[in-house]
Amino acid sequence: MTAKKRVAVLVSGRGSNMQALVEAAHAPDYPAEIALVISNRPDAPGLAWAKAQGILTLALDHKRYESREHFEGQLQSVLDLSKIDLVALAGFMRLMTASFVDRWRDRMINIHPSLLPAFKGLRTHEQALEAGVKISGCTVHFVRPEMDDGPIIGQAAVPVLASDTPETLAARVLAAEHRLYPRALALVARDQVQVDGSVVHIQDAVYAQFNQQQVLGSPSL
Ligand code: GAR
Repeated sequence: MTAKKRVAVLVSGRGSNMQALVEAAHAPDYPAEIALVISNRPDAPGLAWAKAQGILTLALDHKRYESREHFEGQLQSVLDLSKIDLVALAGFMRLMTASFVDRWRDRMINIHPSLLPAFKGLRTHEQALEAGVKISGCTVHFVRPEMDDGPIIGQAAVPVLASDTPETLAARVLAAEHRLYPRALALVARDQVQVDGSVVHIQDAVYAQFNQQQVLGSPSL
């Protein structure tokens, strides 16, 4: 078996997606290990959870750095020292500079709680409800300098109900995120994705299996 990819997960808060990645990575045949969890918020609950699991954690309080470049310089040193192969953003609420993003081009992924390119940015579920969409979901994509933008690796869909509030929709999407993110990271870690401009190509047989788990596996009404 080829060596597992070393992944750093970056969080800013609760960290439930990070938790889903950590739990998936316990499987012996999972192609990645969560080597490091970093938060820009020292009090992030996700950081405390990861520490309690015995995972190497680090708080890099962005407020203590005089500029975005200094913060990212420190972040890069830590990633280098830990020999990180892939970075997974999981509710990491800080924009990165274009130079940091370019350094991690096609090696840094993010999850967003909408079917991108719809509803980028904040208040995602409010945006979806205001637009009246009948299906929402989540997207895992490679990170590019623009917020919530970049080649799409995978998506999962959930229904939007007439009775939904932003909170109930968020909870349904979050459950889909927890299923999608570990599978999307596994595709990247197994080198089963090829980035071609703004499009990610995945072999049909690989994608069929992935998609079956995502879309057909979505919760029913
Ligand atoms: C998740 O819903 C994630 O998709 C979203 O923040 C939440 C973090 O929850 N990320 C974004 O909106 C990125 N633009 P978590 O800390 O429990 O994983």
